[in-house]
Amino acid sequence: MKDSDKPAATTSDIHQEETPQVCSYEGSDYQEVFWDTGERRYEDAVEEVALKRLMPKQGKLLLELGAGAGRNTPPRYAGWERIVLLDYSRTQLLQARERLGDSSRYVYVTADIYKLPFVSGLFDGATMIRTLHHLSDANSALANVRRVLGEDAVFVLEFANKRNLKAIARYLLGKQKWNPFTKEQVEFVALNYNFHPKTVRKLLKENQFALKKNSSPYPIFASTR
Ligand SMILES: C[S@@+](CC[C@H](N)C(=O)[O-])C[C@H]1O[C@@H](n2cnc3c(N)ncnc32)[C@H](O)[C@@H]1O
Repeated sequence: MKDSDKPAATTSDIHQEETPQVCSYEGSDYQEVFWDTGERRYEDAVEEVALKRLMPKQGKLLLELGAGAGRNTPPRYAGWERIVLLDYSRTQLLQARERLGDSSRYVYVTADIYKLPFVSGLFDGATMIRTLHHLSDANSALANVRRVLGEDAVFVLEFANKRNLKAIARYLLGKQKWNPFTKEQVEFVALNYNFHPKTVRKLLKENQFALKKNSSPYPIFASTR
């Protein structure tokens, strides 16, 4: 993924708390610039295919982590009875509400993934799409997600794969300093991280997620509690 998949954020937008820093999308026109007019139809379509393969057709309560403006919500989680759209940015959720409307099916929650404000075991499923790449402490984030998932819940996680062809080519040609084959995450822009697939897999296992086989080439994992 996607050097350009980064927010219109500046260092002054980054909030420091006792939990890790958050990459703020407050006031960002990400949805419009990146998706609506950004000629990203191919990436959007690939995600659609991956989610179709990995998500259960039906479910009760789904948690969408880093939901942004709700790009994925209506078409891709259609069979879910109720969806909690969670994002740190209030303005992203306002955009989501404008797109999806007010209905008892959607619950909009402004919160930090590092401090999820839910009781343990609440959700039947969760997704985190294009959001792990903003989380410096992936282990803590995944531990939080794991805590709020119920028995047999499904979790679909997209991540930015550092071991991609473009990065490998650049590295081998001496045009990129960081090594795409090593296990540590790389911060290529402030608060934008690419991960090695083996590291993501390991973190999921360490947090007691049971991994399912991914039949799509997209850097995405599905797992159950
Ligand atoms: C690249 S956008 C992706 C939005 C949406 N998932 C999509 O694919 O269109 C990343 C989103 O993650 C949110 N985010 C980043 N760090 C977060 C955190 N610690 N807690 C909650 N949301 C966070 C941002 O506010 C932003 O809306």
